[in-house]
Amino acid sequence: MAEAMGSSRRTHYCGDFTAKNIGERVCVMGWCQRQRDLGSLIFIDLRDRTGIVQLAFDDETDRDTFGKAFTVRSEYVLCAEGAVRERSSKNPAIPTGDIEIAVDSLKILAVAQTPPFEITEGSRAGEDLRLKYRYLDLRRPDLMKNLLFRHKVAKVTRDYFDEQGFIEIETPMLIRSTPEGARDYLVPSRIRKGSFYALPQSPQLYKQLSMVAGFDRYMQLARCFRDEDLRADRQPEFTQIDIEMSFVGMDDVLAVGEGFIRRVFSECLGVDVPPIPRYTYRECMNRYGSDKPDMRFGMEIVDISDIVKGCGFPVFTSAIADGGSVRGINVSGYADRLTRKVLDGLTDYAKGCGAKGVAWIKNIGGTVTSSFSKFMTEAEMNSICQRTACREGDAVLIIADGNDSSVLTQLGQLRIETANRLGVPREGYSFLWVVEFPFFEYDKESGEWIAMHHPFTAPLDECLPYLETDKGSVRAKAYDLVLNGIELSSGSIRITDPELQAEIFRLLGLSDEEAYLKFGYLLDAFKYGPPPHGGLAIGLDRLVMQMLGAATLRDVIAFPKVQNASELMTDCPAEVPQQALDDLGISINKQEK
Ligand code: AMO
Repeated sequence: MAEAMGSSRRTHYCGDFTAKNIGERVCVMGWCQRQRDLGSLIFIDLRDRTGIVQLAFDDETDRDTFGKAFTVRSEYVLCAEGAVRERSSKNPAIPTGDIEIAVDSLKILAVAQTPPFEITEGSRAGEDLRLKYRYLDLRRPDLMKNLLFRHKVAKVTRDYFDEQGFIEIETPMLIRSTPEGARDYLVPSRIRKGSFYALPQSPQLYKQLSMVAGFDRYMQLARCFRDEDLRADRQPEFTQIDIEMSFVGMDDVLAVGEGFIRRVFSECLGVDVPPIPRYTYRECMNRYGSDKPDMRFGMEIVDISDIVKGCGFPVFTSAIADGGSVRGINVSGYADRLTRKVLDGLTDYAKGCGAKGVAWIKNIGGTVTSSFSKFMTEAEMNSICQRTACREGDAVLIIADGNDSSVLTQLGQLRIETANRLGVPREGYSFLWVVEFPFFEYDKESGEWIAMHHPFTAPLDECLPYLETDKGSVRAKAYDLVLNGIELSSGSIRITDPELQAEIFRLLGLSDEEAYLKFGYLLDAFKYGPPPHGGLAIGLDRLVMQMLGAATLRDVIAFPKVQNASELMTDCPAEVPQQALDDLGISINKQEK
């Protein structure tokens, strides 16, 4: 039978004790991690969110209390009072290992069934089972620590932006669709049947409108919802540290963003982040084949097209003749690990990314071998080795294609995969800003030009003259913050000229009527004195994941969704009663289910 707390009042958290507390009378409450019955001695490890403390019961404990301790099982909820004393055998593995509490009063506040998995650090229980019983999973110290750390990051975030003059404004959850490139989650209206709210993919337009309203500096820990395919770094609902600033240019926004990063890393991890370098999108693509390069290791892409354009290897020459390129990466120091089997595996991987194949050169013990040496003169081979800095112990992987940007993205993917498979060391935190993104992106599927960031982003002034005539060359006042190969943040300076905004909508294939129907409120607002403004949004979940070195966002979100966007604990999404559908005027196409 469970007992009431009665007049007991907690004096300490379990993890708070040190030798300094010896002699104090204390009261602790928490869960039984484990009970050890040694006959005349019983020990209980009591756990709360701060850690574990040992409760001791021995000959001096009165018989009732001892008897109660005897019945305690894992995960029982206890209230224990007694004196702190020095342990006879200390446990250096836990912070409170010097002391124990000699309990003279024990209350069992709740009993517990045997949990479906053991609640310990580094549990090996399957993730699905842990997610079904997420409240038990969260009791495990590793997840508990992650969530406590996340709280600290959120607190530092609010402090920092408050000090910088930002005010937190809550924007609505039930909104008209704001495009961020994903599908909306829709919420049907009961009052206006057939009409839908969208859950915000981001508060983008509200934060811009709050600039028009004159708030000057906005921030919000904003919940965002996107119905898109999930990955380890993507959840259908996530949180952004969303900011917007008036009367600023790109440098001002980046300075505030960088100041935040420095502050949060220093305060939460004790890590000093050096000034963050800036690279243009073009530079990133040319050197790393990615707009979110992982710069913790080398293997930069090198162009060898000019060397091989007249060689005897048709794969190379035809790629160049078709207007493409031949480029390679030096997997420096790993030649002996790139066995035939490893190379075949990497080639299959590259083919999966669309490459036609991977050519290679190896220099082992000063002897150069290559998959294409019979087509090359010695001078050509030497030039390639020189250009790619291929020395003893190195290997170069080469991709040729008639489309230059394909070569770059395929090599970029191969670079990461090779580093993963070879276990190339990647340590520390490597940040960069990526600037001068292309404004438009050609969508092969629809055959249309779409906005690479979002349509409210301003093009670079120097690109305005050829907005219509050379869409592929238009660059934007857009910037990303990248950390260790993951996009942490995106932002831009916005368009505030209603005519330019209307023109951009037109160039994106929206007629004036369509644009007005969708975004008329924004175009109207811009008629009433919009200040120049810009901002960015940092993924809070991704930030915390990276700071903790977690493998997935699920480890830093209290109640996350799984791959198919369902939540296993509550088993949602779920069907609703017919009456609820009738109220909304919705009928379900049974074949679709
Ligand atoms: P963007 O769409 O790039 O920009 O999002 C900003 C940041 O939000 C995080 N993020 C995600 N995190 C987890 N799961 C997801 N599904 C997910 N999608 C995005 C990323 C990303 O860098 N309104 C603009 C910002 C602006 O222009 O100010 C926006 O939302 O860390």
